[in-house]
Amino acid sequence: MTVRNIRFDASTHELIILDQTLLPHEERYVTIDTLEQAEHAIETLQVRGAPAIAYFGAFVLAKEAGRLVDDPDFTRRLEIVGRRLIATRPTAVNLQNVIDSLLALNSGEDFEQIAGEIERRAVALYDRDVDTYRAIGEHALSVLPAGGNILTICNAGAIATSRYGTALAPFYVGKERGVAFNVFACETRPLLQGARLTVWELDQADIDVTLITDNMAAWTIQAKGVDAIIVGADRITRTGHVANKIGTLQLAVLANHYGIPFYVAAPHSTFDLTAEDAIEIEERNPSEVTHIGGQPTAPVGITVFNPAFDVTPPELITGIITEAGVFKADETAIIHHVGGTIHV
Ligand code: MRU
Repeated sequence: MTVRNIRFDASTHELIILDQTLLPHEERYVTIDTLEQAEHAIETLQVRGAPAIAYFGAFVLAKEAGRLVDDPDFTRRLEIVGRRLIATRPTAVNLQNVIDSLLALNSGEDFEQIAGEIERRAVALYDRDVDTYRAIGEHALSVLPAGGNILTICNAGAIATSRYGTALAPFYVGKERGVAFNVFACETRPLLQGARLTVWELDQADIDVTLITDNMAAWTIQAKGVDAIIVGADRITRTGHVANKIGTLQLAVLANHYGIPFYVAAPHSTFDLTAEDAIEIEERNPSEVTHIGGQPTAPVGITVFNPAFDVTPPELITGIITEAGVFKADETAIIHHVGGTIHV
């Protein structure tokens, strides 16, 4: 997988993203110059996936810090930039964790130094985290049956992170080692991240993938003999409650019904140790449900419920897979493996 979802040039501050709304038909890169363009890019899912949004937010903050260095109101204005970025997608916690860690540097009068340090950390984070996703892939390989039929939802792949992905990492790492899987990808209505992105990504990497619609999951598990389900996460609480793309909860229920393992793969930056089971769920525009690809598929003005995520309780989760290993979705194991605070 050679596609880079985000490119930031530290010398020119040029920030370019792969526009994920156009995939799989068009691979177009767009330049992000202003904070408004950045907010729009996150809100419209041009850039998406909890970790990728965080890297992008970090680069935007670095860019804005560089722009503000001559402003006597630097400290307050940079704080506002950070808060605006965090507000763009409330459920995915990686963005908040990363922006908060960078804003912790925003004190003192040496604005050049603060801007330089934010930029250095943003670049280091994106580069360093490749090892994180590789480790997630390695740990996932240790629990998934080689050659097995594995079901996933949404896109928790390379374009949702920096490389390898989380839920898709074992398939990439497995490919490098000659371990093959048959991946079943739920299309993931309403925005079709499974059909448009996961299938595109895996197919490009020559990994065996079969597309199904979301309502085919139960029958596919039964008819094709799915061995395990693996998904990504947007926020994992201290008690092991997992927010992820809408549709994840029903897969967890199915896994339990059919007695197959249900794994959640995520880096430590996806944990929210302040939360227990209450997670704010982003609700999106009804047109995502009433339309597909801009074409209406429902009566005009019909009432719509469009939550972007759901929350899977710990008792439905076989294991959480992070860069530190595979462990149970309970508070003791989470605090033991992830630690008392989130280091991004
Ligand atoms: O709305 P999206 O496409 O950003 O949702 C993405 C997911 O739900 C992913 O599973 C999650 O962010 C993890 S990506 C490694």
